[in-house]
Amino acid sequence: MYYPDELVEEIRSRNDIVDVIGSYVHLQKKGSNHFGLCPFHNEKSGSFSVSAPKQMYHCFGCGASGNVITFIMKYENFTFPEAIKLLADRVSIKLPELEYSAEARKKDELKNSLLEVNKEAAKFYYYQLRDESGKIGLDYFKGRGLSDETIKNFGLGFARVGKNSMYSYLKNKGFSDDVLAKSGLFNIDEKRGALDKFWNRVIFPIMDVNHRVIGFGGRVMGDGKPKYLNSQDTPVFDKGRNLYGLNFARSSRKKQLIICEGYMDVIALHQAGFNQAVASLGTALTSGHASLLRRYTDEVLLTYDSDEAGISAALRAIPILKGVGLSAKVIDMRPFKDPDEFIKNLGAEEFQKRIENAENSFYYEIRMLERDYDLNDPESKTKFFNEVANKILRFEDELERDNYIESICNKYSINQESLKKLVGKQAMKNEGIKVYDRPKSGISSEKKDPNEGGRKTQRLLLSWICEDQNVYNMVKNYIDVSDFTEEIYRKAAELLFEQINNGELNEAKIIGCFTNEEEQTEVASLFNTPREETDEAEKSRSLKQLVIRLKQVSFDKKASETSDDADALMKMFENKKKLEELNKVSFEFKEV
Ligand code: UTP
Ligand code: MN
Repeated sequence: MYYPDELVEEIRSRNDIVDVIGSYVHLQKKGSNHFGLCPFHNEKSGSFSVSAPKQMYHCFGCGASGNVITFIMKYENFTFPEAIKLLADRVSIKLPELEYSAEARKKDELKNSLLEVNKEAAKFYYYQLRDESGKIGLDYFKGRGLSDETIKNFGLGFARVGKNSMYSYLKNKGFSDDVLAKSGLFNIDEKRGALDKFWNRVIFPIMDVNHRVIGFGGRVMGDGKPKYLNSQDTPVFDKGRNLYGLNFARSSRKKQLIICEGYMDVIALHQAGFNQAVASLGTALTSGHASLLRRYTDEVLLTYDSDEAGISAALRAIPILKGVGLSAKVIDMRPFKDPDEFIKNLGAEEFQKRIENAENSFYYEIRMLERDYDLNDPESKTKFFNEVANKILRFEDELERDNYIESICNKYSINQESLKKLVGKQAMKNEGIKVYDRPKSGISSEKKDPNEGGRKTQRLLLSWICEDQNVYNMVKNYIDVSDFTEEIYRKAAELLFEQINNGELNEAKIIGCFTNEEEQTEVASLFNTPREETDEAEKSRSLKQLVIRLKQVSFDKKASETSDDADALMKMFENKKKLEELNKVSFEFKEV
């Protein structure tokens, strides 16, 4: 259901990247580029550059780069069609109706209606909090130390005692029973009809990253059960993929995000200035949450309750976070139960200290593990270190493993060589042990990938060509598009070579041909990889090596796809000869 390429290109070219980004980020012109603070990572000096001639942005700090479409996708957390819609609206281009299936359209309409319902419901709760009947709710929030400003910012509300006042309110607004039934706001009773799900509760509207209300949480007044009630999942509310407070936290510009357990913790933290806090919504942390967090940060701090339930929640969360490439630390809140209580008792400054002293998640895991063993008993102690060795094994990087081995040995005064051996033994035992799953794309996944060498060659050659089109002229008789065995680079090469042949290099347009954000970022980085300057002779040598390696990988791949042995053998000889010839070629860089 995508728009035609020409339309996407028109929308992209009519939205000047400096204008668009300038409306989000304060930019200053320096030479032909504009600079500002990168919105995608926390920094104090501006390494974020926007190029008007290239119509691209690039951050020298975190590597984020792309065109105006990627920027909107990343900044607004939009899908490709959503970003196109925003940019088209901005320059008054009318988008054609997408070729929706009737079913897809119905789904979309339902979602929009549910968002409308939620918006109206949030307003209704909001007004009730300020109304006579909501006094008990307002008193409750005030009693818990929330300021008027906080109450307003989080859109807090109240649902009074009653059977169906929300239902009548929304019916009056014209919503159909069908939509209301799917909103998660009502319990439908055969005899009594629709009954309000939330009543006698203070209400926490739950917003997605774009500040749209997608569901509600409600805390009962007094001791009723359950203490907290949450909207069930609906077509617009997926508890496993949304985090309370992320709509604010995403732009907090802090180094880490803080994950805590509950609504009140998030609100108390924000009020105390820790606007980087989020909470999962009455569910354990999922990998959906972790990937969502990964878009905004690379390190998270866990501040779950200090009780046993909180500890096991943290121990469950750590591998999930590591699984998407996030590093994690754990904040110690003892002797208090949760961040809300902590801040009430010791204040923000002390909490900041606890943030700074947060414990590396590995040490935390080991410390918690230790509680199950008696280190004075040799047998128990052995078991403990076997477990430790198993955990150390999960680090893929040898240096990292060694560092942890060293520090564990210092901590428990044991011999380093013995622990190393133990780790080796465990590795043999659980051959194929599950290391943390890494995300499919992104730099972190490349470490152990056997195709990485070939990928790197293809990437280097392409980015060199992007930087210096002469390189293309030098190599074009030796290589062709099919030598790029990685699909994304093959597609990029095809577009790039075609543009160079037509004498019209347009980087932003190439990026626009990729619809998936990760691919766009990857391709964009091709245009922004500065080469380390070397002398002419060295350049010639490295270019030759790149071309030879490119051919080698391409030959190997093609050979592995040939099923006929005799054929394959013939090809191998042929290729070997080609490589030998290539070895004699000399690529001359002219002095500039
Ligand atoms: P807690 O029971 O720890 O809440 O639940 P709390 O923040 O200390 O509650 P207060 O301070 O008494 O108001 C933490 C989170 O777990 C979810 C909610 O998201 C809550 O914020 N929860 C808790 C539920 O979903 N249902 C429940 O019945 C209880
Ligand atoms: Mn609490």
